[in-house]
Amino acid sequence: MFLSNRAHDHVLAPRDYSAPDVFAAEQEGIFRRSWICVAAFDQLADSGQQVAIDVGGVPVLVRNDGGTLRAYRNVCAHRHSLLARPGFSCRPTLQCQYHGWEYATDGRLSKLPDGQSFKGWKATGARLDPLRCETAWGLVFVNATPGDTTLRADMGTLAAELDRHFDGLRLYWTQITEHDVNWKVIVENAVEGYHVPMVHRETFVNYAEERFHDHVIAPTHTQFHDLSTRRSERDQLIDRMLFRSERLWTYSHTLAYPNHMLSWAGFYREWVVVEPLGPRRSRRIGYGFFPQNLRLSGKLGLPLRLAVGEIARRTRKMADKILGEDSSLWDSVQRGTESSTFDGVISAREERVAAFQNWVVAHRAQQ
Ligand code: FES
Ligand SMILES: [Fe+2]
Repeated sequence: MFLSNRAHDHVLAPRDYSAPDVFAAEQEGIFRRSWICVAAFDQLADSGQQVAIDVGGVPVLVRNDGGTLRAYRNVCAHRHSLLARPGFSCRPTLQCQYHGWEYATDGRLSKLPDGQSFKGWKATGARLDPLRCETAWGLVFVNATPGDTTLRADMGTLAAELDRHFDGLRLYWTQITEHDVNWKVIVENAVEGYHVPMVHRETFVNYAEERFHDHVIAPTHTQFHDLSTRRSERDQLIDRMLFRSERLWTYSHTLAYPNHMLSWAGFYREWVVVEPLGPRRSRRIGYGFFPQNLRLSGKLGLPLRLAVGEIARRTRKMADKILGEDSSLWDSVQRGTESSTFDGVISAREERVAAFQNWVVAHRAQQ
């Protein structure tokens, strides 16, 4: 059942989807203060691997040095260049791309090329800003604001649930796309099924009846458990035999505020991150996981491994199809918000959209 039985206010105004001042308020109040996923752990698993990315307007460098991941503000103390250009790279040392200054893991300057020409200058202040970095559920998270809260504490009651579903996974793919829409258009589309008969009419046909909806609206997240996909006793037994855990439903979808959307469906786990690149530009990154704790040894090992590979291939194809259907609508929504004279309205079926909008308004910086 839905948690509400009536319509909700559309608390975001049309301009909230494109105005530069709103975007700046979200960057400052939301993205700079939240734990944001910056990579899958498998992408930074070897010493020297690093990724440069923007988190809430702060350029961030996350690097593996000798097996430990650390994050820094991606700015050099010499003449302010980004240490590394955005994206993944692999470097034996933490070295600036411009003139080659090198830094130790604690951020202190460790190598100064042509040092004698800096005579009279004291290097003591030339220390990189460390940022908070944590790994969990096969992913790497950064918080760009100093503080002492942990990722788990900030995830609230969701953390234990993610332990059950996202531990012991292997990354099978990343699906990266960019779109000319505000990040909230993508998130709002993902947290309601009202659009299914129009947008996914060939893939899913229709939305589930209300009695199959189990909605959770919590301070840190919202969820939809599809009760029509409740697993049989036999399927739960198979889960216990093949995996360490068991699942009550085949399909669940979670939005962990602000921009993490996770689903589990059968073997498959997906973690999607929507990265705001500008008021009207977003990057969507999907990480597709399958369990690596499948019991795949013995005589049945090879056929089971082949079967999992085939399921992974088909699931990826399905993920591409669903993304294609959803994203074909996003630019129409964006264009509409930029010309709308309506207040808008949100149904009880779309109550997770209303919860998300209220969360955004409560957390963005006051304008
Ligand atoms: S700006 Fe980094 S070494 Fe010059
Ligand atoms: Fe959809």
